Amino acid sequence: MSKVTVSVIKADVGGFVGHSSVHQALKDRAEECLRQAGTLLVDFRVSSVGDDLTLIMTHRQGVDSPAIHELAWNTFLACTEEARRLKLYGAGQDLLSDAFAGNVRGMGPGVAEMEFEERPSEPIVVFMADKTEPGAFNLPLYRIFADPFNTSGLVIDPKMHAGFRFEVMDVREKAQVTFDLPEELYDLLVFIGAPSRFCIKHVFSKETGDVAAVVSTQRLSLMAGRYVGKDDPVCVVRCQSGMPALGEVLEPFARPHLVAGWMRGSHVGPLMPCSVAQATPTRFDGPPRVVALGFQLAEGRLVGPQDLFADPAFDRARQLALEIADYMRQHGPFEPHRLHLEEMEYTTMPEVMKRLAGRFVPLG
Ligand code: 13P
Ligand code: 13P
Ligand code: MG
Ligand code: MG
Repeated sequence: MSKVTVSVIKADVGGFVGHSSVHQALKDRAEECLRQAGTLLVDFRVSSVGDDLTLIMTHRQGVDSPAIHELAWNTFLACTEEARRLKLYGAGQDLLSDAFAGNVRGMGPGVAEMEFEERPSEPIVVFMADKTEPGAFNLPLYRIFADPFNTSGLVIDPKMHAGFRFEVMDVREKAQVTFDLPEELYDLLVFIGAPSRFCIKHVFSKETGDVAAVVSTQRLSLMAGRYVGKDDPVCVVRCQSGMPALGEVLEPFARPHLVAGWMRGSHVGPLMPCSVAQATPTRFDGPPRVVALGFQLAEGRLVGPQDLFADPAFDRARQLALEIADYMRQHGPFEPHRLHLEEMEYTTMPEVMKRLAGRFVPLG
């Protein structure tokens, strides 16, 4: 049996209404484009979180396949046309270039891909988040793959006891570094605790070397040299049989953590786990959302999805997220609700500074 590749590629190509959701016409168009790909794909699903359109594809072409990336790119272009026709908000927002050159990396769409030998049973979770950044997955991935208080399997499953290897990307310096857990736990935390710059890109099983998780780590702002849209991320995690159990993978989202990217990409708020139907951020364009779609793979076919956060067991997490949201909102335009200056997607500071320059009196 050849290996299977799971490619999750997403872009915001226009919001309905504002930045709150993806119009059904775009999803229909995306379905049509992927269906026309014929045997290139083994299977696919089209989904969304907030205003981000997600293509979930399985195939035999490996990661970074030009054919798969071109298919995704052309699908987003077709959906952009549809978005323009409906005058949706920010049509083509995440497409930074007009010409496709073999790989969508660096062109705007977010990409999370993994290739592996399908196990006798292969449960996976596709996470999709809106109004946040790739580093938003640092904390949950740390808990899933390194924290025994979250993941009992690290203690009691012989196939997980050796721990996991974390590959971390420095998005500013465009460099990557690898840490072996649990030995290098404190070193890892020095970096991933600063999620705007250091993002977990991959996690691997130390026992087998198999890939266990992957995150889209494109940062549109850094790619374009200025802020142009945002980088709402996707993440794929494999579960069970030497990987964390499904419930261990979902558990960190029961305590919503603070992430950057709310309102105008410039505010901090709680990451609220929700179902696909609840993934329409409208309270101050938020709060930030994360959806989890569960699939069983069967010879590459996607059996599912199961909408995992639709479980009432996550109601309390949602309630807590809303309380945190109220508390954070009281700060209005003040840090730490507003992002610190270097991370702001929008700022009037240079203009206001210039206009008031003469009123600043040098001290000492
Ligand atoms: P089962 O015994 O239902 O297979 O579950 C094992 C497991 O991983 C539950 O967390
Ligand atoms: P998106 O990045 O989801 O398009 O949101 C942009 C924004 O500024 C919402 O307030
Ligand atoms: Mg948008
Ligand atoms: Mg978005």
